[in-house]
Order: sequence, then structure tokens, then C-alpha cells
Amino acid sequence: MSAPKKTARATARPKTRSTKAKAVKPSAAKTDTKPEAVTEVAAPVTLDATSTNAALLARREAAVPRGVASAAPVFASHAENAELWDVEGNRYIDFAGGIAVLNTGHRHPRVIAAAKAQEDRYTHTSFQVVPYEPYVALAEKLNALAPGDAPKKTLLVTTGAEAVENAVKIARAHTGRPGVIAFNAGYHGRTLLTLGMTGKVNPYKKDVGPFPSDIFRAPFPDARAGITVADALQALETLFLTDAQPERVAAIIIEPVLGEGGYHPVPTEMFQALRAICDKHGILLISDEIQAGFARTGTWFAVEHSGVVPDLITCAKSMAGGYPIAGVIGRADVMDAMDPGGLGGTYGGNPVACAAALAAIEAIESEGLLARSSAIGESLRTRFADMGARVAPFRMWDIRGLGAMLAVEFVTDFDSATPDAGLTKRVIAHALKRGLILLACGMHGNAVRIMVPITASDAILDEGMAIFEAALADAMAEEMSLAAE
Ligand SMILES: Cc1ncc(COP(=O)(O)O)c(C=O)c1O
Repeated sequence: MSAPKKTARATARPKTRSTKAKAVKPSAAKTDTKPEAVTEVAAPVTLDATSTNAALLARREAAVPRGVASAAPVFASHAENAELWDVEGNRYIDFAGGIAVLNTGHRHPRVIAAAKAQEDRYTHTSFQVVPYEPYVALAEKLNALAPGDAPKKTLLVTTGAEAVENAVKIARAHTGRPGVIAFNAGYHGRTLLTLGMTGKVNPYKKDVGPFPSDIFRAPFPDARAGITVADALQALETLFLTDAQPERVAAIIIEPVLGEGGYHPVPTEMFQALRAICDKHGILLISDEIQAGFARTGTWFAVEHSGVVPDLITCAKSMAGGYPIAGVIGRADVMDAMDPGGLGGTYGGNPVACAAALAAIEAIESEGLLARSSAIGESLRTRFADMGARVAPFRMWDIRGLGAMLAVEFVTDFDSATPDAGLTKRVIAHALKRGLILLACGMHGNAVRIMVPITASDAILDEGMAIFEAALADAMAEEMSLAAE
């Protein structure tokens, strides 16, 4: 697949990326500069009538419930760092990273080697039956990385939602209180407790209530929606007066940067105020770092930007470079609240995933990925601002985030600033046709979030941004031609 044209004008005709099988040998299209020697991609592209994207889509539709949505109508064949090939041999640059799981890229060599070495020893004993060292080593590492001087302990589980559920259990056991306060537009998972905390109905909460009691919600400070930090704090005080008796609240949970909710960072003064409110009422502060952690924002944990030390941190996703593992890190006295047997799960802290996580963390350290994340963030911000002004004047309303956790928001016009989910969808669809995987976010689905591996080379970032620009031009041209009809 040849690189897209570097320049595209708003009037350019939309180009469609051929979905026909190509003779692109996976190993023939590699990144120019890599963080270190990357293992060769071995997977062959074997095409027959049963393994096309269309054939697999038909099988998927028959076998998988429609509630499991996929953003791209293509099936993965293999992937390396920030590139992915589908079963028809089409190459894509991956700016979605499996929903922020691949800060160290697809198949980071260190992660793969560590997982393989662990697989050769044992893959499962259940930590609750026969414990193993990689669990302890990972807990030690996370305890050392988390902010704050107090001694810490870590529980390992398998998914982000499970980490959030356990953080709530631990907070309730420690405080002896039931209440949890979460924020509008926050996302904490799809299990029933975490859905209760998730602040977005469609599609997550639709038709599946009732949700557990004693969960309260407060407004997130969002300048875009006209909610200042003072407004948000006032609303919290009102909540204490009207619904949530502060002495009955165990925890306040907040994402340091709203993930699904649109990549809005928590203003520092808000985080500081939350810390003070929690201290005043004996409430625990939980920073949900599942999407924002592990170099995405230029620090290990996004809360570090504010200088605030939370009592508990939930983490998952990029912690293990593609392996399913999650954790709750917290003050040792809080983490020890539950009796033996109260925490855990058959697969929790799987040894292969622990080995992968230790390797992913080493990669972040040894390749300077925290600084690289900040540099990528700065560079992309400038380039999006320039692109928006040239290609889609008065349509790219906001470029926001922290470090390389960036989103661009589209509107119908700057005067009304009406969210434009239609343009956003078109950009994403055209980008996919041209070979770039993007994902939307935000309460109105009108932002595109960037979750590109931090290990992506400059050449791949340039190529991805050129495709983004061409896709934006395609989307604008398509919109104009539809309006002219
Ligand atoms: C901030 C946050 N919390 C919790 C979750 C739930 O994680 P999981 O999908 O692994 O259950 C997510 C997932 O996107 C998330 O972004």
C-alpha cells in the first residue's frame, strides 16, 4: 500500500482505499525507525474465499451478538508496533492501539519474549492456590511507581472493570461506608456496579438497569459545557446536602482525563479540591488510570500532573502491552482492609500477563517513553491546529488532552459549536479506507481520540497524520457534495 498523498485539499475527491487483496508481504512494509530490534512478522497472508473480511463479517454477524460492536469492518491478520494488517493484506497505521492498550506497540519484542519465557515455565496456578514470583514482582514495581510516600500494596485482577469493582469493595471495607461518588461522562466499565458509576446512558446503560444503590454522580468540570471548577465543586457540596451524606461516602472516583467521555483532563485545582474534600470527610480518592496510565500522558499516572496523591489507583490496559491484566494500587493500610479470601479471582494476576507487564514497564523506562509521549503530544497538537485551520476551517473546535492522550473535536460551526458526530464518523470512515485506524469518543461522539503507540516512529506518525489530513479533506468534500445535491 503506497503512502497517501502528503497534501490534500478540501475540494479533493474522496479516494477509496482498495479492499482487494494485495501482494503486500507483511515483512516488506516495516517501520523505518524502531525502538529496538523488533521480531519479524511471521504471519502469512493466505487468502481464500472463506477468509476475506466480508466472509468473516458474515460469520461474525451470525455467531457474535450485535451488542459487541467493532469499529472497523476488517479482521486482523497480524500487527507490529503501530502497524496492523488485515486478512486481505491491507496495511493500517494504528492510532487506536486496541483502545489505549498498546502504548508500547503491538508485540513489543521485550513483552513477547517475557511472555514466551513465562509460558515455557507455567501459565496458571491461581495465585490463591500456589503463588508465584511474577505477581509479587509486579506488585512491588507498581507500589514503587505509584505517587506518594506511604507504603503501598497492589491487588492484581484481569480487567479494568474488575479493578474498579475491587477498588470500591476495598474502599467500603476500609471506611465501613457504602457511598461512591462518580462524575458525569465518566467511564468505569460495563459490569453492573461499574455501569452504575459510568456516566453515559447510550449505549452502555441503556435497558440494563437497575444499578446498585448508593452511587451518586456529580458534574465534571467541562469548560466546553460551561461548567467551571467552581460550579462542579458547588454541585458536589449540593450533593452532600441533598443526597449523599458525606459521612456515608466511602470514595470519590474520577478519571484524571475523561476517556470515553472525550479526553477532558481534570483541572489541577479540581483534583486539589477533591483531595481536600476527601480529607475533610474521611473519603477515599480513587484515580481511575485505566485509560490514562502508563506513559499515555507523559507520566506513569496522569494524576501526577496535578501533584495530588490519591488513596487508590485503578490500572489496566497499557500496563501489559496487550495482555489482560489490571490492578488496584493503594495505601497499604487501605488495601489490607479485606480479610483473606475477600479479594482475588481464579485468573487474577495471570503469570504470563504479569511477566508481560513487567516487560512493558521496563520498555517504558528503557526507551524513555514518558518523555516521548510528551513530545508526541506537543507535535500532534501543533499539527492538528494547522490541519484544522487549513483543511476544515471553523470545524475543529478543540484539540485537548495531556501528553499523547489527545482528542480533536468537530463542530458544525464555531458560532454555535454544535457537536458534529456526522463529520467525525466520516473522518474515521475515510481514514480507514486510506489505511488509518481511528476511534471516536465524547458524550456526543464528535471527537477523535489519538491512542497511537508511543513507540511509533516519526515516519509512521507522519504517515498517519498525512492520512488523517487526507481523510478530513475527503470528509469535507463528501459533506459539500451531499449538501449540493
Ligand atoms: C477509565 C476506564 N475505566 C475502566 C474501564 C473498563 O476497563 P475494561 O474494559 O478492561 O473492563 C475503561 C475501559 O475503557 C476505562 O477507560
